Amino acid sequence: MSDAILSAHNLVKHFNAGGWGAARKVVRAVDDVSFDVAPGETLGVVGESGCGKSTTARLLTHLLPTDRGEVRFRGRVAGTEVPLKDFRRHVQMVFQDSYASLNPRMTMLDAVAFGPTVHGLDLPEARRRAGALLERVGLDPARFGPRYPHEISGGQRQRVNIARALAFDPDVIVLDEAVSALDKSVEAQVLNLLTELRRERGLTYIFISHDLNVVRHISDRVMVMYLGEVVEIGPTADLYTAPRHPYTEALLAAMPSLDPDRRTMEAPLQGDPPNPIDPPPGCRFHTRCARAFGPCPGTAPVPALVGRRHLASCHLNTVKEAAE
Ligand SMILES: Nc1ncnc2c1ncn2[C@@H]1O[C@H](COP(=O)(O)OP(=O)(O)O)[C@@H](O)[C@H]1O
Ligand SMILES: [Mg+2]
Repeated sequence: MSDAILSAHNLVKHFNAGGWGAARKVVRAVDDVSFDVAPGETLGVVGESGCGKSTTARLLTHLLPTDRGEVRFRGRVAGTEVPLKDFRRHVQMVFQDSYASLNPRMTMLDAVAFGPTVHGLDLPEARRRAGALLERVGLDPARFGPRYPHEISGGQRQRVNIARALAFDPDVIVLDEAVSALDKSVEAQVLNLLTELRRERGLTYIFISHDLNVVRHISDRVMVMYLGEVVEIGPTADLYTAPRHPYTEALLAAMPSLDPDRRTMEAPLQGDPPNPIDPPPGCRFHTRCARAFGPCPGTAPVPALVGRRHLASCHLNTVKEAAE
């Protein structure tokens, strides 16, 4: 897809986990991850804890340098063809911890105004815009503008963090578990705000969450990660109703459903993912897969098209004998 607004090309990030020379150990946090995001769409990202979602987000926003691979914004390589200063204005990020993202000694008005002043906007104009943005995210600027982070709730802080991202007039916002720490009712309000803002401003979202219900609600497409790899990516409705990777099936089976008729009989996931320092050979999921067969322990599956804009990396989709 050449009209992508943001794309990841073979991203790799291995963290040092101690040891020297031949004994050196690395955490394969992100291992050859590629995907495209279309302008105006919301791409959901799911996977168990430790599967590399946050590392992918930080590589995508250039908060973390890649070991290999590149990120492109409108087809141009971030960091070379698009200078990072410009790239960071176009691609913003909102994190889970609303408190850690804010300077405890800065008022909410100045927290929102600060970024644009760094990019050269004068302070009175930046504050005027910050007031309008606070208003837009549902916080009365006269009341909340002068407050400090500890004087407002988690939901209000997350609204401030969204306003802070919007202050750059970005095209893309990467939301890493941005609503996960909020109470359900507050979470719903912030999700509604995000949906409105997307429509109003033509924003593109990459929405990372371990909550498959929330991701289904907000995403046009969903990407599933397992041990540093993308195992499936496709349109939300297709992926949720007809998943093509056993890991996706297992995640969906483990998902709490409000409708008992829709609970599947698939075996839920056992235990935690294996250690990413030494991922299993072949298909990384084969050690936990109820449907593993011949090629799975020895050969890594490659992504195959299983539907319109729907890719899955599983031998079940490509090896004939699997069908029997
Ligand atoms: N700075 C770091 N140093 C070492 N290991 C890290 C670092 N950041 C993440 N990891 C490891 O990389 C893997 C992926 O982590 P992460 O991207 O945070 O996953 P997720 O967001 O899906 O929970 C985990 O095994 C995690 O422990
Ligand atoms: Mg994370």
